Amino acid sequence: MSHLFSQGQLGDLTLSNRIIIAPMCQYSAAEGAPTDWHSVHLGTLAQSGAGLLIIEATSVTPEGRISPWDLGIWSDELGDALQREVEKIRRWSPIKLGIQLGHAGRKASVDAPWKGGKALSGSEGGWETLAPSSLAFSENPTPKAMSSEEIAQIKQAFVDGARRAQRAGFDLIELHAAHGYLLHQFLSPLSNQRTDNYGGSPENRMRLVLEIFDEVKAAVSLPVGVRISATDWTEGGWDIDGSIQLARALEGRGCAYIHVSSGGLSPAQQITISPNYQVPFAQQIQQQVAMPAIAVGLITEPEQAEAIIATGQAEFIALARGMLYDPRWPWHAAAKLGDKIAVAPQYQRSEPHHLRGLFSV
Ligand SMILES: Cc1cc2nc3c(=O)[nH]c(=O)nc-3n(C[C@H](O)[C@H](O)[C@H](O)COP(=O)(O)O)c2cc1C
Repeated sequence: MSHLFSQGQLGDLTLSNRIIIAPMCQYSAAEGAPTDWHSVHLGTLAQSGAGLLIIEATSVTPEGRISPWDLGIWSDELGDALQREVEKIRRWSPIKLGIQLGHAGRKASVDAPWKGGKALSGSEGGWETLAPSSLAFSENPTPKAMSSEEIAQIKQAFVDGARRAQRAGFDLIELHAAHGYLLHQFLSPLSNQRTDNYGGSPENRMRLVLEIFDEVKAAVSLPVGVRISATDWTEGGWDIDGSIQLARALEGRGCAYIHVSSGGLSPAQQITISPNYQVPFAQQIQQQVAMPAIAVGLITEPEQAEAIIATGQAEFIALARGMLYDPRWPWHAAAKLGDKIAVAPQYQRSEPHHLRGLFSV
């Protein structure tokens, strides 16, 4: 059996293989609630054979949404709506389900990407954004620097969201501290110029992420992992050394895994994108912690994914765009690597003649 198709462990959650579907915003929610699009989209991905499906960044407060069409979990009604989606998937698929909890901070209140992704004014349905400091991202309006009270409210919102996620039936919670959104804004000295105990030293900038992690972990019995941007790809920004320090601190607190992405905080970022371009960051972190690292970013080929796991660069790999392009990627990977894959009984007759034995029941 390949390494890619061996069982894996995230905290006490067992995954049938090492393939994770990365969270992907769909900009298709209605007032924070999932729509038919989510049933279709998630239903498709749930038949992929991946070990874990992490659903898109789901905002813990209304103003934490990237766009007005993001999923939310700031009320019990929204938790119930997500529970209905979870139940639909569970009726037809054994895939494990995670949810990414987030807050967009100064990158909130923008249009859907396919409509240009520009900041929305009040008359266009936009709102005032919150951030560690009143420093704007790119052309977006200047955010309001958060008061201590607002910081306490956000922490509580993450805890409430996590409790609702557990009640909704998810198997795992991922905290979104990547891609220039609120928690990453606290980590990076480029966006955090606070003078209280949430700004200044690396310890102070990491404080909010660690406090939220601790409170969420204490509130739920599910495995809790964290997604980070390992570097801002720009001078004077958050970097791999800080990421290693953060990963060690999270591990000491019982973090289930670290999901290693990069960038998104500064428009000045200089990234040369190529296959595996973020894998070295996952590898550097994986060498320093015992909890699993998830590598992500332009992993598209089965042999490439297998090599990452086999050489110990990361324990898991995640795919985003590759799964949209080919929602049966794990089936094709199993065929390429000579493994078996479990498929829904409704689809068993599709096993190709030249691949007899690919499907396990
Ligand atoms: C449509 C789309 C939506 C995304 N939404 C999220 C998100 O909600 N949360 C997140 O952490 N990353 C998000 N990402 C980033 C992906 O999870 C992933 O890290 C990135 O696309 C690189 O992986 P890939 O090369 O396999 O696509 C999104 C990417 C895409 C393409």
